[in-house]
Amino acid sequence: MLISFEGIDGCGKTTQINLLKEKFDFQEIKYISIREPGSTPISEQIRDILLNPRNTEIASETESLLFASARAQIINEIIIPALNEDKIVICDRFIDSTIAYQGYGRGMDIKKLENINLFAIQKVIPQFTFYLDISVEESQLRLSQNGLDRMESSGYKFFNKVRNGYLQIAKSNNKRVHVINGLKSREDIFSSILSILELD
Ligand SMILES: Nc1ncnc2c1ncn2[C@@H]1O[C@H](COP(=O)(O)OP(=O)(O)O)[C@@H](O)[C@H]1O
Ligand SMILES: [Mg+2]
Repeated sequence: MLISFEGIDGCGKTTQINLLKEKFDFQEIKYISIREPGSTPISEQIRDILLNPRNTEIASETESLLFASARAQIINEIIIPALNEDKIVICDRFIDSTIAYQGYGRGMDIKKLENINLFAIQKVIPQFTFYLDISVEESQLRLSQNGLDRMESSGYKFFNKVRNGYLQIAKSNNKRVHVINGLKSREDIFSSILSILELD
C-alpha cells in the first residue's frame, strides 16, 4: 500500500507522518518512508542539480523532467521492491506536488505533466493521499515561528495558486485524495487519518 501526504509547507505532513510511523512501529507493521527528491544515490545527484543556486538558467521543462527522473529512480529502486515485500510505503509528497507546484503554481501544461509523471511512476499511484489544507497565511505563520521565514513577498500569490491547485486535484480525484482541515489539532487530524485507513 502506498500512502502520500501533500500540502503546502507547514501544513503538517512531517508531523502526521511521524505519528503514523510511531503507530506502525508499535503495531509492528512493516513500512518505509520516502522524501523527494532524493532517497537514492542517483536521485540525490539529480537533487543537487535542482537545488544548486548556480543553475539559474534551468528551464521549467528541464526542472519538470528532472523531478520526474528523480521520482522514476525512487520508484524502481525503492517503492516497487518495497511494495513487492508487502511493506507500506509512506511518501512525503508525490505526483500531486508536481501538478500543484509546476502545473497550477508555475502554469505549465497539466496534461503534459501528468503524462510525463505517469511514465516515470509506471502507474504506481497511491491508494490514499492525505491533503492537509491550510491557508497561505497560516503556512507563513507556522514557518516564521520556526525561524524559517523564506517566503518572499511575491511568494503569496504563487502559494495561493498551489493551494487552489491542490483543491482542484482533490476534487477530480475524490476517491483517492482525502482533504483534511490542517487547522485542526494534530490529534484530530491523526484520528481522521487512522479512520480513513481503517486502523483505528
Ligand atoms: N495541527 C497542527 N496545528 C498547529 N500546528 C501544527 C499542526 N501540525 C503541525 N504543526 C506545526 O507546524 C509546523 C510545520 O509542521 P510540519 O509537520 O513540519 O509541516 P510540513 O512537513 O508539512 O512542512 C511545525 O512547527 C509543527 O509543529
Ligand atoms: Mg515536512
